[in-house]
Amino acid sequence: MKSLWTKHTVIPKRERLTGEIKTETAVIGGGMAGLLTARLLAESGVSVVVLEAARIGSGQTKHTTAKITSQHGLIYDRLAEQFGMEAAGQYAAANEKAISEYRRMVKEYGIDCHFTESSAYLYSCENRKAKELAKEAEGAKALGITAEFTTKTELPFPVAGAVCFHGQAHFHPLEFLKRVAEGLTIYEKTPVLSVEGGLVRTDGGTVTAEQVVFATHYPFINVPGYYFMRMYQERSYVLAVDTENPAKGNGFLPEGMYYGVDQNGLSLRSADGLVLVGGESHRTGENREGGRYQKLMEQAKGLWPDCEERFRWSAQDCMTLDGVPYIGKFSAATPNWYVATGFGKWGMTSSMAAAMMIRDAITGRENPNAKVFSPERFTPSASAKNFISGGLHMVRDLSREIFALPRAMTEELPCGHGGVVEYEGKKVGVYKEENGEIHVVSVRCPHMGCQLEWNPDEKSWDCPCHGSRFDYRGKRIDNPAQEGIK
Ligand code: FES
Repeated sequence: MKSLWTKHTVIPKRERLTGEIKTETAVIGGGMAGLLTARLLAESGVSVVVLEAARIGSGQTKHTTAKITSQHGLIYDRLAEQFGMEAAGQYAAANEKAISEYRRMVKEYGIDCHFTESSAYLYSCENRKAKELAKEAEGAKALGITAEFTTKTELPFPVAGAVCFHGQAHFHPLEFLKRVAEGLTIYEKTPVLSVEGGLVRTDGGTVTAEQVVFATHYPFINVPGYYFMRMYQERSYVLAVDTENPAKGNGFLPEGMYYGVDQNGLSLRSADGLVLVGGESHRTGENREGGRYQKLMEQAKGLWPDCEERFRWSAQDCMTLDGVPYIGKFSAATPNWYVATGFGKWGMTSSMAAAMMIRDAITGRENPNAKVFSPERFTPSASAKNFISGGLHMVRDLSREIFALPRAMTEELPCGHGGVVEYEGKKVGVYKEENGEIHVVSVRCPHMGCQLEWNPDEKSWDCPCHGSRFDYRGKRIDNPAQEGIK
């Protein structure tokens, strides 16, 4: 399941960290947010070291649909109502500035990453939502965004209404990242084991830094910060389809970027002669039935009966309780730690906005848009209430042991299937490969003990609490868990 972005891009490998080094800022995480932060700090004359557990760009950055937009669902009208015009204005300005900053970097660094100016559309096919979209367009306009309500789009179906944001863009994220990383001090295959003050320990060495930036998608330190109480994760799926049928002349390659706000609304954009069709979101750990890619393909076939799938991939997104990312001081108890997380489905723009805000905080510049993103807006008691009412499944009494299962139990399982089985009052996860080989793992999440659920679309064990994921052999795929399952 490789994404389109990995088709041609080869990013040079970096060494592991060995020994002890000192720097002004250590950035943990070599995705878009981490590398942009490092690049902007380096531009400001700050010495910076990036520590990446695997390879740079190997996490969510390669799974994005790479839209650079300040259009983040139906958000502006709601933000203005809930937080006030000033806060909503900060959110809008931070994201609009992030788009301009991408433009600047692409130009100044001469980056060949297919950066394309484009309009972004939020659309609905339901008449009852047209009013809401019109309100969103007015709300965005009042905050300084060049937006308008329209019923005309390039989509191959009628819409009841759409909000169009002008002056947005899309690009090839890995080609951009590759160039941004050039010349930075980066250590790969260097997972961080612990952070105490400014001392960052890895299994090969240490970094002593004046500031530490956590840009690890989901923070892996539970306390302080308590990010596990204020974020969950969602998965969504993308197909890159070829809609060209020369005989019928019915190819479809939209110039704009589209995001549907209806129940089964699709995300659409073109890239490399293909259409990226995204959707089928669900909370991580809640996909027992599977069939997400098939459902997406059914929708694509409904629009272009002759279309063919070329690539498929999935994304994992951190969702905050109020829909605004956490960017800024990690916690009151750790004045020299910074965090960038909770970007929802808007990772590209949020990464740049985060990099600009953290650069400003570290270099002592005032950033007029930082307040609305401050992680300190979190109140543990209120958030815990929201989080619990969100339907978490906290299970703490699962066995840590793995034991032999009776042959009859595993024989019943069809090849290529997995699931949780109960044996002598204890639950374990079983997956049977196509060749009949059986893999048995603990279904206790090593992060905080929730019960993992089988994800048949990706043959993985996923945690419904905070979204850690593991392959069928137990190897960790996604954090916040720091280790695999037994
Ligand atoms: Fe937190 Fe699983 S990710 S308990």
